[in-house]
Amino acid sequence: MYTRLERNDECWCGSGKKYKSCHAAFDDKIIKFESQGIKVPDRSLFKTAEDIEGIKKSAVINMAVLDEVGDKIRAGMSTQDIDDIVNDVTTKMGGIPADLNYEGFPKSVCTSINEEVCHGIPSKDIILKDGDIINVDCSTILNGYFSDSSRMFCIGDVSPEKKRLVDVTKECLEEGLKAVKPWTPIGDMGHAVHQHALKNGYTVVREIGGHGCGNAFHEEPFVSFVSKPGTGMLMVPGMVFTIEPMVNMGTNEIFIDEDNDWTVYTADLKPSAQWEVELLVTETGYELLCW
Ligand code: MF3
Ligand code: CO
Repeated sequence: MYTRLERNDECWCGSGKKYKSCHAAFDDKIIKFESQGIKVPDRSLFKTAEDIEGIKKSAVINMAVLDEVGDKIRAGMSTQDIDDIVNDVTTKMGGIPADLNYEGFPKSVCTSINEEVCHGIPSKDIILKDGDIINVDCSTILNGYFSDSSRMFCIGDVSPEKKRLVDVTKECLEEGLKAVKPWTPIGDMGHAVHQHALKNGYTVVREIGGHGCGNAFHEEPFVSFVSKPGTGMLMVPGMVFTIEPMVNMGTNEIFIDEDNDWTVYTADLKPSAQWEVELLVTETGYELLCW
């Protein structure tokens, strides 16, 4: 249950102002939605101006890393070479690769090729070849603030079918962004993503999704991209979360590599693509923090 403070208390946001002249009306609005049966965020999910500055600084590194990967990536390179770039650029800029040792993940970045949906583990034995599509999913910690984004790269001459999957997946993310409107439920956003994928003959992974992010790697809410309109947590200004749909050319079914317990594949071994951004919900829509 979302609770109010006493009117003369100091506001919870850290402004130093009295509650009644700060976030009292904001809280009233949230409580009104909650009373209508809509799931609302906990106050701890609202980022302060300082948090947002911190996340943006972390994102500067994350985006520089992905830019550098984009400049260097080519056929003949191993996914370990990508991991090396991520580690070098991140640490030289003063950051920490968030993936490294996260729940035992052994590398600094996820590299997922073709039928790999996500959580591919870089290796010197995995060599990029002409026609591959690869997702590079990178996350950075700077001064305790987390940034998270991923991009697709096409290696050399990619088939029109795979190129279309990559492009439509980006459009799915853009459709999701258009649906990020404050004081609406996040299920509307996920629905918009899903519909665009279905319209193009693709499916969307159900089990893995986006997440709140910023003061920790994975915060509430879990962000589904197969959600029904009118469901899920209310999007409230100050929340930060990722949009990162995994779009499959064939079935939405997936399985996890039994040898490493990480890498996720499509059940039919048809290609999958993913793009990820991290955003802040604002009073007018959203602001991209990391892409
Ligand atoms: N970066 C992924 C995400 O978007 C999480 C990867 S966790 C790891 O949420 F351990 F696999 F690196
Ligand atoms: Co993420």
